[in-house]
Amino acid sequence: MSLLSVENLNKAFGNLVVTKGVSLVVAAGERHVIIGPNGAGKTTLLHQIGGQARPDSGRILLDGVDVTRCDPEIRARAGLARTFQKNTLFQRLSVFENVRLAVQARHGRVFDLFTPVRARADIDARTQATLERMGLGKAGPEILANLSYGDQRQVEVAAALACDPKMLLLDEPTSGLSPKETKEMIEVIKGLPTQMGLLVIEHDMEVVFSIADRLTVLYYGAVLASGAPREVAADPRVREVYLGAGAADAAH
Ligand SMILES: Nc1ncnc2c1ncn2[C@@H]1O[C@H](COP(=O)(O)OP(=O)(O)O)[C@@H](O)[C@H]1O
Ligand SMILES: [Mg+2]
Repeated sequence: MSLLSVENLNKAFGNLVVTKGVSLVVAAGERHVIIGPNGAGKTTLLHQIGGQARPDSGRILLDGVDVTRCDPEIRARAGLARTFQKNTLFQRLSVFENVRLAVQARHGRVFDLFTPVRARADIDARTQATLERMGLGKAGPEILANLSYGDQRQVEVAAALACDPKMLLLDEPTSGLSPKETKEMIEVIKGLPTQMGLLVIEHDMEVVFSIADRLTVLYYGAVLASGAPREVAADPRVREVYLGAGAADAAH
């Protein structure tokens, strides 16, 4: 059974159809990458899987359970985690506090005077373990704003991993990163727990080919091609979309 199964998803904003009959599956342990031109509907697709947007029709199954109409919190508790295209961390808090907030959010609670000491210790321990798994064990006390952008994006992944998700969604984790930071992010992605399913939107083809088991191309909201990365990249329709876009850019 697939970990994530998207079945014939459709969504429009007014007259603009942004998701057109999209179906895809991600198995446990699979690294599935989505590419597509700007405005193809990649982020909107991730929003529907994460619960930040509602599809007009179609179904989303997580581990066989229909979560199409569930809130993001319910999906998170069912094992889904995600990051966003734009950094959503708290700049004035420390790395540790940022990841701890993610751990608390998944547990559906905030600290107050009545939080048992043991529960706090559990959450702190989980936070520290997550940071260490990401090689950020020593960065905990640092104020986020003092970190490089590349390190901040790694903290975002750490926050998403804080509750041992079964399925992780990443929206352009390398956008805005330097070549060196991009290489580090590739290593972070390669180091993710092997049984976790990963669905990642990525535009850097070097990253795509370093991590993808499976590649799906979205074009005007629809799946243009999906399969083994090299085969998809060699598909004449995919080449036309990318070479066509390149030619249009060059003309400007
Ligand atoms: N909330 C919204 N309301 C109206 N149009 C939107 C909204 N979100 C995205 N769009 C439009 O939907 C299309 C797909 O956007 P998006 O999913 O962000 O594409 P991508 O991530 O592939 O660049 C774009 O034309 C965008 O302008
Ligand atoms: Mg996007």
